[in-house]
Amino acid sequence: MDLAISELQKPFLDDSQIASSRTIMGLDTQLIDDGTYYIVEADGHLAGCGGWSRRATLYGGDQSPGRNAALLDPARDAARVRAMYTHPHHTRKGVGRLILSLCETAARSEGFTRVELMATLAGEPLYRASGYERRERLTDDRGGVAVPLLRMSKPL
Ligand SMILES: CC(C)(COP(=O)(O)OP(=O)(O)OC[C@H]1O[C@@H](n2cnc3c(N)ncnc32)[C@H](O)[C@@H]1OP(=O)(O)O)[C@@H](O)C(=O)NCCC(=O)NCCS
Repeated sequence: MDLAISELQKPFLDDSQIASSRTIMGLDTQLIDDGTYYIVEADGHLAGCGGWSRRATLYGGDQSPGRNAALLDPARDAARVRAMYTHPHHTRKGVGRLILSLCETAARSEGFTRVELMATLAGEPLYRASGYERRERLTDDRGGVAVPLLRMSKPL
């Protein structure tokens, strides 16, 4: 996660934005506790991680303010895709696409008909390639410097 945040965002953000983004990205242990977080290994090495959630928090790590663990209603709410990171040595090998498809299948099996996420600029190409559409552009300055983000969603 650390390497993905610092290396893979460089084409999209300056150093101060990358530092700021650490406040709003990273590990959310709730996903691990819920059993909705995946690790992909290649030859015994960690290649990537990411997951989904049936809880209200749309994005952020354990350190991020304003998280909300309320359970979503599959009949009314969109499931969340959360915390997608690929190790810089393993990008463009389909790791992100694999994790997204695992997340979508699991969310669908629990009755969700839509999935939503908050994308970084680095994440947008993966999500667009996987059928997600942009709903809203915004910035998050809770880390001290405004970081651009995109709310995206997809029907399941
Ligand atoms: C976003 C991220 C997880 C993508 O992971 P990945 O494992 O490299 O993605 P995939 O290999 O599954 O890519 C699938 C498709 O998405 C698109 N895509 C992914 N990364 C891309 C990039 N940097 N530029 C252009 N298209 C890209 C391509 O269409 C790609 O298919 P192709 O390689 O056959 O052309 C990774 O870049 C990352 O960790 N970024 C930094 C952390 C981050 O911002 N995470 C998102 C949080 S919302």
